[in-house]
Amino acid sequence: MSTDGTRWAEVDRLLETELLGDDPILEEALRASEAAGLPPISVSATQGRLLELVARIAGARRILEIGTLGGYSTIWLARALPVGGRLVTLELSERHAAVARSNLERAGFADVAEVRVGPALDALAGLLGEGAGPFDLVFVDADKGAYPEYFAASLRLSRPGTVIIADNVVRDGEVANATSTDANVKGVQQMLALAGRTAEVSATAIQTVGEKGYDGFAIALVTAAGL
Ligand code: SAH
Ligand code: DHB
Ligand code: MG
Repeated sequence: MSTDGTRWAEVDRLLETELLGDDPILEEALRASEAAGLPPISVSATQGRLLELVARIAGARRILEIGTLGGYSTIWLARALPVGGRLVTLELSERHAAVARSNLERAGFADVAEVRVGPALDALAGLLGEGAGPFDLVFVDADKGAYPEYFAASLRLSRPGTVIIADNVVRDGEVANATSTDANVKGVQQMLALAGRTAEVSATAIQTVGEKGYDGFAIALVTAAGL
């Protein structure tokens, strides 16, 4: 069995070359994020394309993202939207949000994607309060300790058919460490338990390897109303 991270990255290069091709807009978004000192923790290109494809398959017209960073995943998701589609993305850091706004503008999504700055839990309460939603797809990717709350809020902003995707649910397999005291690990574990016991969703998670290491995505489909 290969557990060679170099090999995983080589395969990501091959997949990008064969399936994704050059992407100056996204490459510039990563360059600008790095130049601004943002951490290199956006989704990979192959993962970004997966987000775009799932959003297209779902026919998403309204997308919510929790955790913007420099807007890399935001651009992938925005590309899935039809004319008239909208995206709201939530980011704690004003500095990250400024980089994201600049990247989104360069990608042509300044009028499509709205970056809301502040703690995501406050922003989610605000969205609920103003009667926003339902969203067709939610991408959960901010602080992992609050994943259970983000999942619960996402459900309240959903309708039957909404897809909820959460990033970083495996983290080198730490998710299987039942005695972990890491708040991030516990947050992910609690979100998975919540998803599993919520009768109104059907959920799974898939382990992934690649240039971002060993991790995974959870995906949940809201199957019934009443949340
Ligand atoms: N989705 C991005 C990566 C997000 S990284 C991509 O793949 O391109 C996680 C982001 O969540 C960071 O920018 C961090 O500042 C933000 N974040 C952390 N805690 C937060 C909170 N409480 N509310 C909103 N955003 C938060
Ligand atoms: C990290 C990776 C992520 O994709 C993320 O959303 C947050 C943190 C990390 O590797 O630390
Ligand atoms: Mg992530």
